[in-house]
Amino acid sequence: MEIEIDIQDIRKLVNTVKAKYAFDFGEYALSSFKRRLVRILDLYKFKDMNELINKVNFDKVFYENFLKEITVNTTEMFRDPSMWKKFRETVVPELAKLSSIRIWHSACSSGEEVYSMAILMKEAGLLEKTKFLASDINEDVIATARSGKYPLRNMPLHSDNYDKSGGTKKLTDYYKTNGDYAYMDLSLIHTTVFKKFDLVLGKQEQKFDVILCRNVLIYFNLPLQDKIIEMFSGTVDTGAFLVVGSKESIAWCKSATKYSTFSFEEKIYRKL
Ligand SMILES: C[S@@+](CC[C@H](N)C(=O)[O-])C[C@H]1O[C@@H](n2cnc3c(N)ncnc32)[C@H](O)[C@@H]1O
Repeated sequence: MEIEIDIQDIRKLVNTVKAKYAFDFGEYALSSFKRRLVRILDLYKFKDMNELINKVNFDKVFYENFLKEITVNTTEMFRDPSMWKKFRETVVPELAKLSSIRIWHSACSSGEEVYSMAILMKEAGLLEKTKFLASDINEDVIATARSGKYPLRNMPLHSDNYDKSGGTKKLTDYYKTNGDYAYMDLSLIHTTVFKKFDLVLGKQEQKFDVILCRNVLIYFNLPLQDKIIEMFSGTVDTGAFLVVGSKESIAWCKSATKYSTFSFEEKIYRKL
């Protein structure tokens, strides 16, 4: 039987996490947050929300697992290949005009998006003048991203995406296999800095020419989306690109007026 989760329990949980771990779930979209909680209660066989709240409060290792369950990490290389094709054909020629290029993957998960961009920039002959920042709230996924070690069973999907994205070689040219794993060519990320960064509370001092914030805004409520898009506005100059996920949009955000729509279909925006 499904455990009842009322709004008071959610508030108590959110306040506990905020006080103990300085992480604020307060503005995550309620419906998906609740769905994830139901999953966690079931997965760990908690008898009620209080038990879960106590566990989060007193067990740091459990908290890390809890965080992983709440912040969905699903990703793919060249996810939504038509975006990458558009990026390759229309954004890259603009970036090629710059003397150096700075790209921020602001919710990089286990790094597939970062390797995709590095491959694309390499094929465009721009990798050596590109610096990447790859960040996420979750340290475990960042460690995977750094290692470039991915299950071999996922590579056919990544390869198919790569081909559809207009890749000029074969994805297999960029990794070696050993046992059940693919090991990405780490020279692809030699100009990448990986670090933990919280989009909710983090402050960004650096400037970027491209920011990717794909498939994470969807988990936030509108005021939080507003805040993040506003934060991005301060880290880019006129002409910089912002890319969000295929099911996301900045149209409803207050700072949408600071951007033009570069590609409506592919959710690519440009700072005015
Ligand atoms: C579904 S994945 C998207 C990965 C990749 N951008 C893509 O489109 O395939 C969402 C990522 O957002 C991260 N995330 C969730 N809340 C975050 C926050 N407050 N700050 C930074 N990253 C966050 C999660 O840890 C997860 O890795």
